[in-house]
This record gives sequence, structure tokens and C-alpha cells, in this order.
Amino acid sequence: MADQKTAIITGITGQDGSYLAEFLIEKGYKVVGVVRRSSSFNTHRLRNLQDNSEEMHAFGYNSSLSLEYGDVTDAGFIGRLVHSVGPDEYYNLGAQSHVRVSFDSPSYTSEASGNSTLTALEALKNFAPECRFYQASSSEMFGATPPPQNEEARFYPRSPYGIAKLFSYWTTVNYREAYGIRASNGILFNHESPGRGESFVTKKIATAAAKISLGIQDKIALGNLNSVRDWGYAPEYVGAMWAMLQAESSSDYVIATGKAASVRQFGEMCFALVGLKFDNFVTEDPRLFRPTEVDSLVGDASKAKEALGWEPQIDVTKLADIMVRAELDAIKSGRAFGDKPSYWGLQT
Ligand code: NAP
Ligand code: GDD
Repeated sequence: MADQKTAIITGITGQDGSYLAEFLIEKGYKVVGVVRRSSSFNTHRLRNLQDNSEEMHAFGYNSSLSLEYGDVTDAGFIGRLVHSVGPDEYYNLGAQSHVRVSFDSPSYTSEASGNSTLTALEALKNFAPECRFYQASSSEMFGATPPPQNEEARFYPRSPYGIAKLFSYWTTVNYREAYGIRASNGILFNHESPGRGESFVTKKIATAAAKISLGIQDKIALGNLNSVRDWGYAPEYVGAMWAMLQAESSSDYVIATGKAASVRQFGEMCFALVGLKFDNFVTEDPRLFRPTEVDSLVGDASKAKEALGWEPQIDVTKLADIMVRAELDAIKSGRAFGDKPSYWGLQT
């Protein structure tokens, strides 16, 4: 296909990367995904992209998807990748994305979630200056600033993760202004799905609700139940990433539902769906609290609605329903979500 677009996705094995890969392939893109080497297979979220044709099945990859081993902190690798692929679009999702863990590994987080963005933008400046660039910025950058938060709100990060993402945010703005790179920041508020990592609070709660209702778990240990988040549905949010890169000019956008719910409220919703009372099963573990917490994030996505026509359909109630049902289905079918090992033709 002569006019087929090519997109690089870092973080393709994560929640957003896997949904974005499906979204772009559906639109006819060729996707090149970066996978970091792990001692266990980590490509299970890409299972929906398995090509059903006999020939491709034998090789274990999809004709629209190729995967490369690499690391976002490896400037040599990123430079070579951009040079050899010559992408039309670059989605920079690869990062150490866990806020609590960023307090344990602050230097690594600053490399993987901060400096890696500079590495990617340098590679584009040198080898593919026409390529459009999406930076996975975060509502964590607003930190202590009270809601509602929009593009004009003050940044006041409260974690090494938030600080690293702020470095990435400003690097993206600077490469746009200094070198004319078509780079946009998506300032995404929390978005969840059955494909969410197991250590994030919504997935942890939805899994516990399902397992406790089926008698295979007793309790759930959590940290701060009072923090408030704006919880959206990940498959809807990857559409916003793409829409930003199709816009006439590059800019920065808040992506959010505008609705608030505390961790406790999310727990109550999930447990009510299986006929249980959340308070009867939750215990407090001090290790799960953060040295500095972000109390409340609730976004105002008016700019994205007006400029991109983007508007979410799934609210937190529906999200809880989707996630708990998915956990129940996965347990009853004897298979955890996405639990299908494969190495997708990666060179080992
Ligand atoms: P995720 O599920 O944790 O995925 C992170 C991805 O980055 C995984 O594919 C991970 O690989 C990869 N990765 C981590 N370190 C890497 C490294 N050094 N080199 C190469 N790849 C690396 O996160 P997500 O929820 O999909 O989020 C995607 C991006 O959006 C992240 O940058 C996150 O910080 C940002 N973000 C997320 C949210 C949200 O609510 N989900 C909101 C705002 C911003 P493994 O599979 O090997 O771990
Ligand atoms: N992870 C976790 N585990 N969080 C807990 C727990 C627990 O056992 N108990 C309470 N919490 C609280 C956290 O203290 C936080 O206030 C809230 O639940 C949400 O925690 P996470 O699900 O870990 O998400 P996050 O808001 O810290 O970060 C996510 O959203 C950001 C966007 O605002 C991540 O996806 C980041 O990568 C993303 O940038």
C-alpha cells in the first residue's frame, strides 16, 4: 500500500500501547512497536492482533505489526529505529508509569519517563523532522493544584514520576517551538480498562471484588482511600491520542471525563456489583501510602472537545461494571485477561 502510514509505538506492551496498536492497525497503519526484553513474555496484551491467516499464524505475528526489542533509555537504539523506520507518527508511551514505584526508583524513573522523551525528540529532529510526535503527559503534573485542571492550570508535581513527566512535557513544547517538530502533549487523566496493570488501584479492586465474590480471596489491602481521581476508559483515550496528531497544528490537550470519584467510591461500586459491601473486606497497609499524595485530579477537557471533537462516553459507573465483569469472565473461563504468551516473531 503506497500511502500506508507507519507509526512507532513505545510502550506497546502496556495498557494504552496495546489498545493504540489495535486502533491504528484498524485504521490501516503499519505499526512498529518497541518491546523491552524481559525474562518472561510480556506481549500478552497484543493477543488480539494475532493474524488469523495460516501463514502468519505460523510465524506468530501480524502483517501490520512488527516488534523490536529496545529500551526508551537507549539513545543509540532509538536513533537507529527512527532512522531505519522513517515513521509518520511516533507515540511515546514507554515509561516507568507507577507513581508509588517512582519514590523507590527515582533516578530510573527520571530516565525512563523524563530523559527518554528528549532522546526520542532528538532522534526525530535528526532523522525524521516531519514525523508527528505524541507525548504521554499526565495529570500527575498538576499534583497539588486543586481541580478542575485544564491546560492553563499550574503544574505542581508531587512525585518523581510527576516531575519526570513535567520534564517531558516541556521538552515536547520546546522541540515544537525551537525546531518546528509537530509535537503534542496529551495530558491524560487516569484511564483504566480490563487491560490495566495489576498494581494500579482500579484493577486491584475489580479483581478483588470478583475473586472475593467467588470465594478465592478473603481481603484487599489498600492505601489511601480518600484520593479523588477522574477515571476514564482507556480504549476511548487512545482515540484522542491519534486525533491530536491529525490536527492541523500541534498543541497540548487535557483528556478527561470531568467526573470525580474517590478510591473508596470506586471500591463501593465494584463490590456492590457482586452484592458485597466494600468496607467488610478492605484493610489498610501503610506501605501502600505515598510520601506525598495527589489528593484530587478532575479534568476539564473542553479544549479537546472543541478542537478535536473528542468526548468520552464511558463514565466511572460503567467503567466499574466493565472491569468487574471482565474479571468475573476471566476467572470463570479459567484465563486471566490477556493471558496468552507469545513472542511474536521477536528475534531472540
Ligand atoms: P503501562 O501499562 O504501565 O505501560 C507502560 C509501557 O512502557 C509498558 O509497555 C512497559 O513495558 C513500557 N516500558 C517501561 N519502561 C520501559 C523502558 N525503559 N523501555 C521501553 N519500554 C518501557 O502504562 P499505560 O497505562 O499504558 O500508560 C502509557 C503511558 O501513558 C505511560 O507513559 C504513562 O506514564 C502515561 N499515562 C498513563 C495514564 C493512565 O491513567 N493510564 C495517564 C496519564 C499518562 P513492560 O510491558 O515491559 O513493562
Ligand atoms: N496503586 C495503588 N495501589 N494505589 C492505591 C492503593 C493501592 O493499593 N491504595 C490506594 N491507592 C491510591 C493511590 O494512593 C492514588 O491516590 C490512587 O489510589 C490511584 O493510584 P494508581 O491507580 O496507582 O494511579 P495514580 O493516580 O497514582 O497514577 C495513574 O494515573 C496517572 C494519571 O493521573 C498512573 O496510570 C500514572 O501513570 C498516570 O500518569
